[in-house]
Amino acid sequence: MDFELSQDHKVLRDSVRDFVEKEIKPIAIKIDEDHMIPDALVKKMGEMGFLGSYLPEEYGGAGLDMLSYAIVVEEVSKACGSSGVLISAHTSLACNPIYAFGTPEQKKKWLPDLNTGKVIGSFLLTEPDAGSDAGAITTNYKRDGEDFVVNGAKIFITNGGYKGTGVLFATSDKSLKHKGVSAFIIDLQSPGVVILKNENKMGIRGSYTTAFALDNVRIPAANLLGQEGQGFKIAMDTLNGGRIGIASQALGIAEGAFERALAYSKERKQFGHPICELQAIQFKLADMYAKIETSKLMTYKAACLKDAKKNYTIESAMCKMLASEAATYVTKEAMQIHGGYGFIVDYEVERMYRDAKITEIYEGTNEVQRVVISKLLLS
Ligand code: CAA
Repeated sequence: MDFELSQDHKVLRDSVRDFVEKEIKPIAIKIDEDHMIPDALVKKMGEMGFLGSYLPEEYGGAGLDMLSYAIVVEEVSKACGSSGVLISAHTSLACNPIYAFGTPEQKKKWLPDLNTGKVIGSFLLTEPDAGSDAGAITTNYKRDGEDFVVNGAKIFITNGGYKGTGVLFATSDKSLKHKGVSAFIIDLQSPGVVILKNENKMGIRGSYTTAFALDNVRIPAANLLGQEGQGFKIAMDTLNGGRIGIASQALGIAEGAFERALAYSKERKQFGHPICELQAIQFKLADMYAKIETSKLMTYKAACLKDAKKNYTIESAMCKMLASEAATYVTKEAMQIHGGYGFIVDYEVERMYRDAKITEIYEGTNEVQRVVISKLLLS
């Protein structure tokens, strides 16, 4: 067992850190206030290889590994949770399933633009009446000549506002529950794909969370991903990887808040001393750091297991659960350490507090993670 990052991973981490320091940190407040990540930043992240980090070079990816991807999402999220989830949902939920389940033709057609960030990807599973119960989706498809025709509605779609390339889930017969679900690659510019709204949210305000209506959308038969009826398996497999991305995002948010709280506790003087000399503050810092390190170990472990092509389902659920709960805890304590200043936008911990909460909810609520973990323990 070696708990040290390799030299290559350290070099990657430092270069991502430099990029984040120069390109993201100075505009993180603006991204939150404008509800938008500038296109120029998305383009630069694509040029840096952040949008296809662990996908092979032959398909335009950076050819790194899952641990590198976790490090990229973590470092970006230290400064900006919105940018972190853009990378995470795009890579894990769109590039990954096309790479893992696509035919050689599908990979050649869709991956190069996604992996280089020319097109942004999304994952269209959730519906108004099918959130945690993903097998209950009712968006339906039927075959018509050389196409599938899809009707229905999707909500809470991260990156949906870019109208790029999606991995869409629909059912041929809802009474079959998860066995009726198939997956498709969809060009979100297709006729019949209608954006109903981009949600106004508590946190990750720079990230699109989009509701779509799908009205007689024609998807070429060549865009079926995997086999008909295999869609739920593709969704679950994809989410296993995606949960490492959300854990990395949560970890980054927690670390960003912790770094600020630690620095502030040394600068801020009350009762004639820096507040870090007070045991009440020291205990908070100790608890925050312990939760961060625990989450980091589990997140990196899950990433390394995926890299080693070993089963990592339980570890991905655990890292997502631990890191997101750590992020909520740490950002709340970081605000408390900042006192009244923590409530002020310029100190940034209030944004991190708002950004953290969703990590306990998306890509499966933490209750879903507990279902996944306990089912595996008992099986
Ligand atoms: N990995 C692999 N396979 C899995 C799995 C996992 N994590 N969880 C379930 N499965 C398999 C089961 O083994 C079973 O396979 P068989 O049919 O071969 O036996 C099959 O899936 C059905 O399993 P269950 O009977 O356990 O299914 P269920 O209907 O009871 O649901 C669930 C299980 C874990 C709750 C699942 O529905 C789930 O993960 N729900 C959450 C969905 C989710 O995360 N949605 C978020 C979407 S993305 C998002 O948040 C927005 C974004 O863009 C960031």
